[in-house]
Amino acid sequence: MFVTRAIRLGSKATSSVSEELRVIAPSKLAIEDVSKSFKTGTGVVQALDRVSLQVGEGEFVCLVGASGCGKSTLLNIIAGLEKPDGGNVLADGKPVTSPGRERLVMFQEPALFPWLDVFGNVLFGLKLKPNLSKKNLSRFEHANIHELSGGMKQRVSLARALAPNPRVLLMDEPFAALDALTREQLYGDIQQIWKARRKTIVFVTHNVREAACLGDRVLLFSPHPGRIQEEFPVDLPRPRDINSVDLAAHATQITKALKSLGKAEVTVAR
Ligand SMILES: Nc1ncnc2c1ncn2[C@@H]1O[C@H](COP(=O)(O)OP(=O)(O)OP(=O)(O)O)[C@@H](O)[C@H]1O
Ligand SMILES: [Mg+2]
Repeated sequence: MFVTRAIRLGSKATSSVSEELRVIAPSKLAIEDVSKSFKTGTGVVQALDRVSLQVGEGEFVCLVGASGCGKSTLLNIIAGLEKPDGGNVLADGKPVTSPGRERLVMFQEPALFPWLDVFGNVLFGLKLKPNLSKKNLSRFEHANIHELSGGMKQRVSLARALAPNPRVLLMDEPFAALDALTREQLYGDIQQIWKARRKTIVFVTHNVREAACLGDRVLLFSPHPGRIQEEFPVDLPRPRDINSVDLAAHATQITKALKSLGKAEVTVAR
């Protein structure tokens, strides 16, 4: 059982949009008592222990926690890339048994096809012509992948993930390798896309400010075994500025809780 800690600094003392969404809308994703362990050379690692979580349609949920606490494992299970040892994952009420186009994953490394240009990468697997102008990519349509900066590669990855119009985006530290300025631009992009297309997003990050900037809720994982320890609703208006004082106050609260869990490897500074 995890704790919900309402942080309402600089915001109205009403229930959050995400709370209201959860009451009104049925869960887009339902994670019920999910456990997962791995056999390693030195024994068994309990990566997740009876993790339960409901994510509403159109909700933006961020997962933070120390390295090795099971965030990627949970994301991969939701994606259908890994099978849990116990428990269930339901998407739209149906069990997730394999990866699907309606739930796409975006990783830290862009994982693009170097033999295709930008257009080809976004088009991959699609019959439609993608609209690259909205993603600030039109100038680079026929650029080779190796000619792009890290930030541009992640924009291409994002465009490719969005091209089949998935309802759920699963993002595993997608901006971790980028510089602060590029990350800031991408925070703007992702907030715009989320607002315009109302995706359901589960976003993993080590960066607490990033989580407070993007999420309706930030879920704090505790390690070994991985569990959801605490939940922090973020009620700040959007679009959010990563440098705002209110946002920093939220991030400070979450960081304190993260540090109190022990060996937290946390990125507080940007
Ligand atoms: N395929 C695997 N084989 C063995 N152990 C694994 C495997 N995948 C994950 N683990 C272990 O499970 C635990 C959770 O790993 P996971 O990658 O989910 O953590 P994480 O929270 O995403 O960490 P990070 O923040 O460093 O990415 C870790 O102890 C890890 O070593
Ligand atoms: Mg990970």
